[in-house]
Amino acid sequence: MLKIDFDKQINECMNKNLDAVNNDRWRNKYHIMAPIGWINDPNGLCEFNGEYHCYYQYSPLTPMGGLKFWGHAVSKDLANWEDKGVALYPDIAEDKDGVYSGSAFVKDDTIYFFYTGNVKHQGEHDYILTGREQNVILVTSKDGINFSEKKVLLRNTDFPEDMSLHVRDPKVWEEDGVYYMVLGARTIDDKGCVLLYKSSDLYNWKFHSVPAGKLNNMGYMWECPDTFKLGDKDVLMFSPQGMEAEGYKYNNVYQCGYAVGNFVNDKKELKLGEFVEIDRGFDFYAPQTFEDSKGRRIVIGWMGVPDAIDHKNPTIDNFWQHQLTIPRELILNNNKVYQVPVIELENLRKGNSIKKEVSLNEDITLDIFESNTFELNINFKDSNEFNVELREDCKLSFKNKLFKLELGKSGYGRDMRAVEIEAVDSMRIFSDNSSLEIFLNNGEEVFSTRIYNDSIDTLLKLRGNGIATIEKWNL
Ligand code: FRU
Repeated sequence: MLKIDFDKQINECMNKNLDAVNNDRWRNKYHIMAPIGWINDPNGLCEFNGEYHCYYQYSPLTPMGGLKFWGHAVSKDLANWEDKGVALYPDIAEDKDGVYSGSAFVKDDTIYFFYTGNVKHQGEHDYILTGREQNVILVTSKDGINFSEKKVLLRNTDFPEDMSLHVRDPKVWEEDGVYYMVLGARTIDDKGCVLLYKSSDLYNWKFHSVPAGKLNNMGYMWECPDTFKLGDKDVLMFSPQGMEAEGYKYNNVYQCGYAVGNFVNDKKELKLGEFVEIDRGFDFYAPQTFEDSKGRRIVIGWMGVPDAIDHKNPTIDNFWQHQLTIPRELILNNNKVYQVPVIELENLRKGNSIKKEVSLNEDITLDIFESNTFELNINFKDSNEFNVELREDCKLSFKNKLFKLELGKSGYGRDMRAVEIEAVDSMRIFSDNSSLEIFLNNGEEVFSTRIYNDSIDTLLKLRGNGIATIEKWNL
């Protein structure tokens, strides 16, 4: 279908549903959301000519996630975003069933976008071994808004023979004048892995290796791989599908995490340590990173998980679903990846903060919230046990070296997630109208979740032992 016909459909859909979206009390204030319909993975993250670009998987025609386009949001400070509408349409034969995820590579005055063109053939197919195409496609842009013609770079026939038709989500980087592309893949015998391609000109790509994956117990498909350096380490972040839950680990439908190691043997192999979940909450998947001009490695994730059956997002009644996370800087600390909210988020703070210091030995109730949109920092001293309650039925507790996030009715099916952790010295919470991002110990562990409490609960309740220093800003 042509762009102009898609635009007509999208406009009609907006005329019908945009008021419902915009009047929803659960629309967020400072998170990237689809203007209407559905959002999933962040795509094409980059800084270009002094602006940050965040493209994203976008289904404007339904809140349930249908045909994928790329939406586009722009920011000067990573805190305030402006939506620019549809960037890429599924308008050629090689991407007719979805402009799937991909990345951006900036060189000189041009952004090179590499994405997956998804195609589904009609007929009796399993869409794993037959009936599907996943093409690597390039488009370029000089302004992030207008795009060149699409050029198909790789097709399924260019992938190794033991791969199923699921090979997607290209992420490109440069090292010593050579370009590299990783792709997430599913082998014919259902093992997730990463493919590495090499190029000298960004247009011609040659298969190089399968540097990681094909393991037992690590899922049947690895989506959205991203490789980057933190210090002298090579980190692989990816979203494996098909891992079994193990105690408090891997409790979501699909997982998302990283492993730290190093490329060896001319990048034929990526030797990795243990797989670690990057976020412990209910809603985090398919993150993507980029390096900005200040040299920071910044990640944005999708605050949702595909195919979730144990919880819901009531916003679908108002024709929208999902959001992205706030941008977080990645820091390697003792081989562990910490996520720290980017400093620019302080631009969101309104007026002066409220500060309190309380002894946790008795029940404390502080009437400090004026809305659901706030930043809350709590520092704990001499405290190895605490219980914090906010937003009606959200409980954050720490006891016996276990930190727990529990939601009641407001979770719409989200119940409990937990992580074993030695000590919790600080907790920083970014709360928006329907989301919470909770950072323990400056990003050592993070919990991201959607939350749909009915009213504005102004109370913060605490008890435990030791002393808590609290600071709160309206955002
Ligand atoms: C991850 C993912 C990607 C794919 C995209 C389609 O959430 O499944 O693998 O490219 O979403 O929207």
